[in-house]
Amino acid sequence: MNEQSSYPVKVEAQHVGFFETPVAYCQVKDSDALLRDLERAIRQNMADSGGLQRSNIGGWHSNTDMIAWGGAAATKLADTAINVAKRMTRFQEAREENYEWTVRMWANVTAKGGFNHMHAHPGNMWAAVLYVDMGEGDDPAADVGGAFYLEDPRFPMAAMHHTALRMVGSDGEAQQYEVEFKLQRGDLIVFPAWLRHGVRTYHGERERISIAMNIDARRR
Ligand SMILES: [Fe+2]
Repeated sequence: MNEQSSYPVKVEAQHVGFFETPVAYCQVKDSDALLRDLERAIRQNMADSGGLQRSNIGGWHSNTDMIAWGGAAATKLADTAINVAKRMTRFQEAREENYEWTVRMWANVTAKGGFNHMHAHPGNMWAAVLYVDMGEGDDPAADVGGAFYLEDPRFPMAAMHHTALRMVGSDGEAQQYEVEFKLQRGDLIVFPAWLRHGVRTYHGERERISIAMNIDARRR
């Protein structure tokens, strides 16, 4: 007889996840007029500033003062992003009205071959990106690259044991080290500014337009 059979134990395990990383994956509804005016302001700013500046890889980006030149549409976008960030924020020691929320905003126009290395936004609370025009990727079935991705902030802890190791999340799925988003026009993502993210190489012929934001709240 197997010695272990004298211990007829059963295990009741409750799989819970701790220390979540909140990410708001939003579709901005009825956004046609807003997106149109944002794009118009970006094109104008691009023309005023002398066209392409190759300051990021394969694209142009504006200065971070789009609130000043983006008109009412930029202000509306800033308020919208702040409201999403507020839903994911609590302050332990003070009421929310004691905090002043601010946004720095800039536009990215990405040509074929453009991408963004993985990075974070130090010194801010939340970061956000809105897609104004997917370029050639308007058809969700078209694979023109340019995917936005987030890195697991715990990386490479599990992989330090074995590179093939994946921990199973409370949803029962193996957790990968990166999450890719298949984004569409009008999608807005708000995530912690310390969470590293990037954009894979875009292969479409038509330029892609997005707007990035740094969102902060400071005690008055
Ligand atoms: Fe970024």
